Amino acid sequence: MPLPLCPFVPLFDNMNITLTSGKSVSCAPNTSILESLKKAGIFLTSSCGGKGTCGKCRIIIKSGRSDIRSKMKLSKEEIKEGYSLACKTYPSGDMLIDIPKESMLTVEGQIDTGKSRDFLALLHSAGADLDPLAGRIVLQLPRPSLDDNISDLERLKRELFANGLGCLRVPFRFMTHLAAIVREKNWEITLATIHSEDCYEITNIFPGNKKIPQYGIAVDIGTTTLVVYLTDLTNGALIDIASTYNSQIRFGDDVITRIVNATEHNELGNLKRAVTEDINNMISLLCQTHNISTDTIDCIVVAGNTTMTHFFLGLDPSAIREEPYIPTANTFPLSHAGELGIKTNPNIPVYAFPCVSSYVGGDIVAGVLATRIHKKNELSIFIDIGTNGEIVLGSSEWLMSAACSAGPCFEGSGMKHGMRATDGAIEGVKINCDTLEVEIKVIGKNIQPVGICGSGMIDAIAEMFLTGILNQKGKLQKDRSDRVRTGENGPEFVVHYGRDKDIVLTEPDVENIIRAKAAIYAGFSTLLNEAGLTFDDVHKVYIAGGFGKFLDIEKAIILGLLPELPKDKFEYMGNTSVIGTYLCILSRKMRAEAEDIARKITYIELSVSKSFMDEYVSGLFIPHTNIDAFPNVKALIGR
Ligand code: FES
Repeated sequence: MPLPLCPFVPLFDNMNITLTSGKSVSCAPNTSILESLKKAGIFLTSSCGGKGTCGKCRIIIKSGRSDIRSKMKLSKEEIKEGYSLACKTYPSGDMLIDIPKESMLTVEGQIDTGKSRDFLALLHSAGADLDPLAGRIVLQLPRPSLDDNISDLERLKRELFANGLGCLRVPFRFMTHLAAIVREKNWEITLATIHSEDCYEITNIFPGNKKIPQYGIAVDIGTTTLVVYLTDLTNGALIDIASTYNSQIRFGDDVITRIVNATEHNELGNLKRAVTEDINNMISLLCQTHNISTDTIDCIVVAGNTTMTHFFLGLDPSAIREEPYIPTANTFPLSHAGELGIKTNPNIPVYAFPCVSSYVGGDIVAGVLATRIHKKNELSIFIDIGTNGEIVLGSSEWLMSAACSAGPCFEGSGMKHGMRATDGAIEGVKINCDTLEVEIKVIGKNIQPVGICGSGMIDAIAEMFLTGILNQKGKLQKDRSDRVRTGENGPEFVVHYGRDKDIVLTEPDVENIIRAKAAIYAGFSTLLNEAGLTFDDVHKVYIAGGFGKFLDIEKAIILGLLPELPKDKFEYMGNTSVIGTYLCILSRKMRAEAEDIARKITYIELSVSKSFMDEYVSGLFIPHTNIDAFPNVKALIGR
């Protein structure tokens, strides 16, 4: 139990914060626990950036005195159990705390080697070789003598010329250290380079042979979630994955609210800083976990929707939200980590995926690159279900796209117990139709569930509907199950009775999901209508999204999120945005292909389409007002 609050804060002495894991961290006076942990390399999820409004940075105070400045987002029970917000807890003496798993920003740690193999196979099947965006060249310079007494710079240039690299310019910033570097390891040096326009550019010079290790960072900047892949550029292996919520959430859940904040409240700089800090935190965590120096990171590739890319690059997004919806740019010149505030070698290149329009961005171009629909003869649909649902329809001959606003519910944001698809998330739910007993599947080994992710919500709602716990309008049926009860937010269904807290889906959660799935289904139908096609013409549907490893297609059809087509027409691909960035980081051919895709896609604006609104309203039922479009679901309900 926490001791009573004590506003006294010592002026000079640092305090100790001991974690229940045994680790101890020093805390300066008037510094929050969140800040102190961060300084010690322990990163907590902190979507609101320490403002005390997201409730993600929870810790449990076991003992010690502190000044707790806000308890927002904590329930009475949680406060009783010692829960506190790390960003609003200021130690006033030594403390012992526990950090619940769901508060930690963690890396996946153990990457299935099959995943790297799959990505490399994808690269090779696309006819591309391992040819990363950045490379390293090792040179042995001849030692100077009285007969060969040219300057160090001339010596380096002569050697570059002899190696067919005569166009390589040595930037001035390296000249101040050049004399020391060439002598440090007996005139052997390594140049880190990138291919830029007609030549290479030097991004770093090291003494000796530093050919390996060499890493790349692939980033998917989602409106709600950020994912970072650490990649070995020498063999294409995926080393590790880190993910977190996008801290820009404190400026709004959706892109429009964030644009309003950026333009009308002058917050563009803060939005840029929020996402940069998230990326820096994940890079630090990955480097720390794998004991690698940031000097070994040679390039970064990012993909995000058009607004996220604008925020990351610090571009003015104001015209994106007003008709006729114009971004500052859809293609972006190579920039450098230093000018974007990324804490690696400042000279390494940062490549941002090209976008199609204001509402179909680089993440979708990366998704098309990963699914390869632009190379297939048959008609395919690609759908990326994130905070927006973006859809691309087409084949090797043509591609058209549209975007519909789904909201962040499938990524866990704005839902009572929603969370990302990481350890502790309920990702699968089954309800026995006779006993109404609930069986759950949780991500991670022997882990207590702490929330529910997108695939778990789809499962739960489909199962609740099939068992009569939920009606077609998304209303919970109190008399059907003891698990339906009245909570703080009205009727709720207990998905899991927990030791510390029950995990529930509330009626407002269900309404959120129904609105999102209606928008996505309406996007599918409208785009097909525009092309004069129907669902029967579609050969394959590729689905992307942050659902984790698993998405039950049948349940998504029962919910009315996906059209009722034979199951083998669907392929769930996971996060295709980050797969596309990964391919691009490993191959310059893939980068050229991404630029071709962006040029080829035609954008259709759904907000001016009357049929989209009609389709949307029809989709506000489970599975759909037109039940005849879902014959198998109709038969299931009948049973
Ligand atoms: Fe602490 Fe958001 S509540 S970081």
